[in-house]
Amino acid sequence: MIGLYPTWFEPGVGSGWIVGIIATIHVLASHTSVGAAVFFAGLAVYAHRVDKPEYLDFIRRYGLFLLVFSYVIGSITGPGIWYSTTVASPRGISALIHSFVWKWATEWVFFVIEVVGVYMLVYLAGKVDRRTHLNIALVFGLAGYTTMLIIIGILSFMMWPGQPEWFTDGGYLNGFYGANTWAQLALRTAFMLTMTAVVGGIVASRFEDADVKRRVLRVLAWVGIVSTVAGALLQRWYLATLPESALVVLENRMPAGYAPAMATVLALTLAWFVWTLVQPRRVHMAMASVMTVALLVLGLWPGETTRESIRKPFVAGQYVYSNQVIARDVPGMGIRSELPALEAHGFLKLHPFAPDALRQVDGSNLLEAGRFLALTTCSNCHSLTNTGMRPLARYFGGNTDVPALAAYLQAALSTGNTMYMPTIPLRDDEAEALATYIASLSDPAAAQAWVDRRTRQAAVLPSVADDAEGAPR
Ligand code: HEC
Repeated sequence: MIGLYPTWFEPGVGSGWIVGIIATIHVLASHTSVGAAVFFAGLAVYAHRVDKPEYLDFIRRYGLFLLVFSYVIGSITGPGIWYSTTVASPRGISALIHSFVWKWATEWVFFVIEVVGVYMLVYLAGKVDRRTHLNIALVFGLAGYTTMLIIIGILSFMMWPGQPEWFTDGGYLNGFYGANTWAQLALRTAFMLTMTAVVGGIVASRFEDADVKRRVLRVLAWVGIVSTVAGALLQRWYLATLPESALVVLENRMPAGYAPAMATVLALTLAWFVWTLVQPRRVHMAMASVMTVALLVLGLWPGETTRESIRKPFVAGQYVYSNQVIARDVPGMGIRSELPALEAHGFLKLHPFAPDALRQVDGSNLLEAGRFLALTTCSNCHSLTNTGMRPLARYFGGNTDVPALAAYLQAALSTGNTMYMPTIPLRDDEAEALATYIASLSDPAAAQAWVDRRTRQAAVLPSVADDAEGAPR
């Protein structure tokens, strides 16, 4: 047996999308608040220097808005990511915890400082002297940014460990700091300021005093323009720090409309900031809110799902596959690849949660065994229904020729040479079972005909497996 867990199956969407939806909302909330923390620190310094108390009033209002929305949404979706990823990808999370548990503990310390900081910033405004308020803003900004730095070290480890020595020597700093860490930090810093500037428009548009509104919107517009342009430029640096497999997926497997769509979002965002710069009076809360949702749906969702896609076939550290199998030896962590054992004995024998009735494939359980294999080895990345994430049936073009499907599965998956899919060692009987299940997705009758044929054969031959291999096991 290998240490696999039960699979979380979410019909209609796939567990990956549930994680993705929670995570994207979390990114909006967390990036906006971290961006705001940094922005507030800068704006507070500026407001004190030029003696413009209306900017401090804006900080107080925006801080209160974030307390009610961002911090509440962030604190719900944050644990939501933990819950959903723990069920969707227990071994991915386990890999991260084994490397970074103290990093996370550190992050929580800074997060607590950040939360206390935002309360102090809002409720002590005007009640403490300026110097103290400025210091609160600076501590808030630093604490917020530190939480981001720590999380990004972990996120970039998920793409690939910082230094190659990590695989042989372990050491959490080796895993944490790499070229991708800095590039991703820079890229996210830029885009989080963009988000802060867009969401800030919701608050700024509510100033009654037209002059104050104009000035605050102008500051936001310039922050937005500079950060959006910087983000667009920094993307090139980020791309240069990706593993080769990521670039293969990015170049060959993304929808054709992806690059133009992202360029459109950037152009739209810039247009929004320019418009708020020249027409501040006409900015309404509703428009700023629509713009926020547009950024969430058109910018964040594709951006984050792309980062997830290009990390395939791995979920973490280039050694845990998305389907939870450990794919390589990591001597530095005392981890051994599970592929040789799977090649020798197959999933049905080694998966601890396989029903006993499926451990041996025969005519009568072909479909059930195939469904089990699809659930455990494919459904982390492919939805098994017609909707959601990369629906499996769609990739087979309605083909119901079971032997041909089985041969294709073994050629494409057992060898691992697609680069974006894991190596999935399928024994002959397993490939046939999975092929029968895949055929049933587009034509249940055809699959049933194959099952019936095999069942009739099984009346003569004890099992398909014996038939396929010529010797009983
Ligand atoms: C780690 C995630 C992952 C797993 C697990 C996975 N796939 Fe895929 N698969 C992908 C990605 C990514 C693509 C490319 C998607 C695209 O181009 O839209 C893909 C594409 C495919 C294709 C099209 C191949 C091609 O080159 O055009 C087939 C067929 C396929 N998968 C079948 C399967 C089957 C069957 C399983 C389970 C035995 C499986 N996949 C498991 C990620 C995965």
